[in-house]
Amino acid sequence: MRVLVTGGAGFIGSNLVDRLLADGHEVRVVDDFSSGDRVNLTAAAEAGDRFAVHELDIRDPAVGELAAEFRPEVICHLAAQISVRKSVADPLHDARLNVEGTVSVLTAAQRVGTRKVVFASSVAVYGRPAVIPVPGDAATDPRSPYAASKLSGEVYLATFKALHGIDYTTLVLSNVYGPRQSPEGEAGVVAIFTDALLDGAPTVVYGDGGQTRDYIYVEDVVDGFARACGEAGGGGRFNLGTGLQTTDRDLHTLVAQAAGASDEPGFAPPRLGDLPAMAVDPAPALAGLGWRPRTDLATGLKHTVEWARQRRS
Ligand SMILES: NC(=O)c1ccc[n+]([C@@H]2O[C@H](COP(=O)([O-])OP(=O)(O)OC[C@H]3O[C@@H](n4cnc5c(N)ncnc54)[C@H](O)[C@@H]3O)[C@@H](O)[C@H]2O)c1
Repeated sequence: MRVLVTGGAGFIGSNLVDRLLADGHEVRVVDDFSSGDRVNLTAAAEAGDRFAVHELDIRDPAVGELAAEFRPEVICHLAAQISVRKSVADPLHDARLNVEGTVSVLTAAQRVGTRKVVFASSVAVYGRPAVIPVPGDAATDPRSPYAASKLSGEVYLATFKALHGIDYTTLVLSNVYGPRQSPEGEAGVVAIFTDALLDGAPTVVYGDGGQTRDYIYVEDVVDGFARACGEAGGGGRFNLGTGLQTTDRDLHTLVAQAAGASDEPGFAPPRLGDLPAMAVDPAPALAGLGWRPRTDLATGLKHTVEWARQRRS
């Protein structure tokens, strides 16, 4: 199958590219390298002419030309502005990338007869959910421009299906962690703890450390995308998470154990606007995609720390 991956030089996108190539597919990446890194595509480059990367903004009309030439059967759309805080500071920039960008990708898909678009949405669309783990059919309640732009992407997918018959699957990702996650952003607390603990640098836990998140290993997320590239899950929307909540304080302990470091974080006041708790129910993804999370947190953290260690050596 020919698959175009937007944001394919990023953390999740590059792991997806490796999986798709291992499955025997032909892959093209569109990425502007605003946060992605060519190093992430080192293994992919060994796939020869089954793989190519194009340095382009997803809004660039050249993406349409590339699509016309490659004729992707599926587009996995992951390129995005991913920071909630940046979206609050500059909502227009977020909308340009995440709304205009998604419409550009869908327009290219429509012009070249792409069968399906698989979209990376976020649990941010649920706002402050009343029930945890959040059921797959829970109401959305976007409380940041980032959440609004992701939800708008979901709406545009349904619109393009109704109007042009392009199939889609939306994957609502919880907190993804694993190899290639950058500690530089604010999204990757696992990457931040891992780097600091391996370097012997101080770590900070906000509030009393009781805030919870649902950590899902990148290999499991990529498996969800790979399944959604087929016929399964057409027109569907699935949470990809574990359903389990892990507190910030427990996460610190687990990363410290994996890194062989001491478990003594500093504490700072809670950050305004931080969500107290989150986890999502993955059951519908089992029914719709045959997907379930397979990697427990301790094992995933072990692999993540091993990767971070190797990168240092
Ligand atoms: N990491 C998570 O926990 C998480 C959770 C929920 C949703 N998501 C979504 O998953 C997707 C991938 O996230 P990630 O964590 O791998 O982030 P990432 O920053 O590593 O990847 C995003 C990629 O998109 C590229 N990009 C950004 N703007 C672009 C543009 N205008 N044109 C072309 N390329 C562009 C970046 O260079 C980068 O390679 C995003 O859509 C994000 O919103 C991630």
